[in-house]
Amino acid sequence: MTYFHSKLFFYATILCTILLLQSSKNGYMLFTTAQYVPPSATRLTSLFPHLNFNQDFSPVFGGPYVQIYGNGSNANITLDKKSGSGLGSKNHYNYGFFSAAIKLPTGFSSGIVVAFYMSNSDLFPHNHDEIDFELLGHQNHKDWILQTNMYGNGSVKTGREEKFRLWFDPTTQFHEYSILWNKHHIVFLVDNIPVREVIHTPAISTAYPSKPMAVYATIWDASDWATHGGKYPVNYKYAPFVASLGQMEMGGCIYNPNDISGQSCSKSSSPSSLDPVEGLDFVKLSNQQIQGLQWVRSRQMIYSYCKDKRRYKVLPPECNT
Ligand SMILES: *[C@@H]1O[C@H](CO)[C@@H](O)[C@H](O)[C@H]1NC(C)=O
Ligand SMILES: *[C@@H]1O[C@H](CO)[C@@H](O)[C@H](O)[C@H]1NC(C)=O
Ligand SMILES: *[C@@H]1O[C@H](CO)[C@@H](O)[C@H](O)[C@H]1NC(C)=O
Repeated sequence: MTYFHSKLFFYATILCTILLLQSSKNGYMLFTTAQYVPPSATRLTSLFPHLNFNQDFSPVFGGPYVQIYGNGSNANITLDKKSGSGLGSKNHYNYGFFSAAIKLPTGFSSGIVVAFYMSNSDLFPHNHDEIDFELLGHQNHKDWILQTNMYGNGSVKTGREEKFRLWFDPTTQFHEYSILWNKHHIVFLVDNIPVREVIHTPAISTAYPSKPMAVYATIWDASDWATHGGKYPVNYKYAPFVASLGQMEMGGCIYNPNDISGQSCSKSSSPSSLDPVEGLDFVKLSNQQIQGLQWVRSRQMIYSYCKDKRRYKVLPPECNT
């Protein structure tokens, strides 16, 4: 360290100490849980009808590991050494609001993925669309990482991942993970707070999901990548791992396979409007939602593909706007 730098360091330390003292005097404590109280959020959840796990979903794998209870209002999905498990919606939807309340497995969770996502790889194996919430287990007890991602029209060569630390313990209570998807934007929300917005600009239009998708909730073993790139695999000594699901909420346009254009797909009923995600409240974020988005992204975001120049020599076009 040069003389100049050590002087600089000395003054910087003093300045920091003064700031710390100042802030605790004002009753605002740095580095305490105070920073984990997010700004208030407009409630989008509870505007839409609830789906029933018995009627509107079916197991997609690990059938015996899917346990539906509460007369279809809740489901537990389980992973153990033999199998993971998951549910998928019977219908496909062309745009809408899709939400699940999820409580994650407690205890040791490395290598596990609990996903709430939309996909149409069954209908369009070569040019599918996908919108993902992936909750990634962690080597530390209780620390789960939230990853979001999307693919459009088969854009599988370009991962558009973003990762966030959660501002709560996701294993003690249910929290709401929601996707708002219309032709204007895709918004990922956690407890109604937007964590990511993908605006449908010309730059991203070829990779923007625009075909009907089904909704899935799954738990599986992703030992080879989920936790620090595969450094910490699933430890089955702690199995079974159980994720609980509830409040499966959906407002959207049910896709009718006999009408491939999707133009006349029937809207599922909604208490607030006929076309639940086209109204003013859904085509752009409110100022309050923007504040929430900025709060999350400035404090909790730990990875964005748009900043990963080692991975992308040329960043995807939407990153430059
Ligand atoms: C269970 O759910 C079905 C379908 O949603 C409903 O018709 C029925 O009344 C419910 N039964 C009870 C006991 O809540
Ligand atoms: C999606 O991909 C298909 C086939 O790969 C192509 O014909 C079509 O034009 C693409 N659509 C968009 C919106 O890019
Ligand atoms: C579902 O899983 C939770 C753990 O998240 C457990 O406490 C509960 O007993 C399970 N319910 C059923 C019906 O299996």
